[in-house]
Amino acid sequence: MTIDAIIARAPIIPVLTVETVEAAIPLARALVEGGLPVLEVTLRTKVALEVIAAMAQVPGAVVGAGTVLSPADLEASRKAGAVFGVSPGLTPELARAAEGYPFLPGAVTPSEIMAARDLGYGVLKFFPAEIYGGQSALAALAGPFGGMRFCPTGGVRESNLRTYLALPNVAVVGGTWLAGKSEMAAGDWAAITARARRAVAIARGEEE
Ligand code: 3PG
Repeated sequence: MTIDAIIARAPIIPVLTVETVEAAIPLARALVEGGLPVLEVTLRTKVALEVIAAMAQVPGAVVGAGTVLSPADLEASRKAGAVFGVSPGLTPELARAAEGYPFLPGAVTPSEIMAARDLGYGVLKFFPAEIYGGQSALAALAGPFGGMRFCPTGGVRESNLRTYLALPNVAVVGGTWLAGKSEMAAGDWAAITARARRAVAIARGEEE
């Protein structure tokens, strides 16, 4: 699967920082059921690799690793079963390590976008989106970088996801709001499914 094929599966990628392995399967099921099968598990907890391995077993889930900062992170998450990787940025080492693997690196400035484009990337994470100018920055970047598409994350919420997705150069959005720490700790999977459903409806313009 290419990164384009992966992001075409859902309008929103939940960004998941999961503290316990026990949460992995019910969380992935809850999100798949809510219509969001593409899941980014950040490598920010001790159990992240185990969480990826567990979630990868859930039917319908397309599980990737986030916060991939080094070739070692990429290698470890691939071994755990991640089928794509996401990084807040891009280094030459990471680009080499990610060759032939579905990868969504981050870039926000024109020079970073040009460097990533030279390496063959057509879709980039735009993080932290709200801090780097949000929708007006993305609209401005569409001028010189007409062919590039972005996945804004960082400050994307129910209240603004629709306007982000309405931009022609926004392919998909990501965010942590879909699965909060407290719901994960409480095992409130139904609330997570409901929020995912609502987000999909908003993305489709079916709900405000
Ligand atoms: C990420 O890693 O993409 C961000 O933590 C997401 O930011 P958010 O918490 O504002 O959604």
